[in-house]
Amino acid sequence: MQNLDRLLDEYSKAPEIFQAGRYWKAYEDKIANEIKSADIDQLRSGKYPIFGTFGFCESVYNYGVGMPFHVKLLKKVIRKLFVTNKATLPYSLRLSDIREMAYNYCLLQGQLAGTKSIAEIETSTFGNPSDLFEINGKKYTMQFLNFYIRVCFAQQYLNLKGDETIVELGSGSGFQVEILKKIYPGLTILCFDLPAPLFLCEQYLSKALGENMMVKSDRTIHTTDLDNVIEKGKVHMFGNWMFPLLKTFKIDVFWNGASFGEMEPEIVKNYLSYIKENCQSVFLLQARHGKESSKNSGVVKPITFSDYNAMLDRFKLIKESDAFEANRRMSQSGGYFQAVWHKIQS
Ligand SMILES: C[S@@+](CC[C@H](N)C(=O)[O-])C[C@H]1O[C@@H](n2cnc3c(N)ncnc32)[C@H](O)[C@@H]1O
Repeated sequence: MQNLDRLLDEYSKAPEIFQAGRYWKAYEDKIANEIKSADIDQLRSGKYPIFGTFGFCESVYNYGVGMPFHVKLLKKVIRKLFVTNKATLPYSLRLSDIREMAYNYCLLQGQLAGTKSIAEIETSTFGNPSDLFEINGKKYTMQFLNFYIRVCFAQQYLNLKGDETIVELGSGSGFQVEILKKIYPGLTILCFDLPAPLFLCEQYLSKALGENMMVKSDRTIHTTDLDNVIEKGKVHMFGNWMFPLLKTFKIDVFWNGASFGEMEPEIVKNYLSYIKENCQSVFLLQARHGKESSKNSGVVKPITFSDYNAMLDRFKLIKESDAFEANRRMSQSGGYFQAVWHKIQS
């Protein structure tokens, strides 16, 4: 916990533009407090719904973060009475059918992208994921398959060879990094995030990939020069306020999945200003019309696809399409896009 306190302390001293926007301000203290009493071994069990806000949501049935107890109970009763009668699902689907279809979709997308097959990799079981299942002797969760699908899309336009440097902002759980490293073990990855999610992500990836694969935040926290801490082929953890260190650092791919949308446009613009000159490609997966916004909650100003495209003015849009998970279209917040941009060579 000492390291979390140190991260929180450094973050509190960072300039305003690196503080969370309204959307995330509603979560950050709750997450930090929950971490302090949580059993990390149960991270993915569904016991801590607040961790679902940044990816640790691996329950088959989603009760929703913050849902009142009596609604949860009612849903549970309804599920017990009706949904366990599997024939009530369309076309007599069973849970195992949905999982198998999602897996088969991953097999095909992997072939299309010419990347390592889903059959050759599996999820870590650290954190006791409640949605764990096995296919052909390998372990998966739907989240693992979902993050694999993102790589399949991206790889068709990124053509990763496996020795590139990737910067991910808002890594959340770290599931994307886990998949990327399991497909391309030689990648050098730099993760940046708010302190509490970063702390849990670091715990998770240390177990999922191994301690020897990690350059943790206790080593990076006071660095003023990336060359002093970057180790080729490893995963590095940084507080989000350290993003300016990237200004002169050569990056092959900048990756942001469902994080920019939860920030304000000027925050996003600021982050992009540190990578625009020195990055070859950008992958974004975001809410197409922006995240929820109301008078008192959500983002103050939603960012849409055309805003991102305008911000990436020195980049050429290579491909954009609706985003899909392994088993369904990403339809929350009015739908998501996934897209890849390449730097225009001058
Ligand atoms: C919905 S989660 C997405 C996590 C992961 N990329 C995924 O696709 O599941 C949003 C992430 O954005 C991060 N985030 C939100 N506001 C941020 C800010 N101002 N600066 C840096 N990261 C931020 C959160 O900490 C969280 O990890």
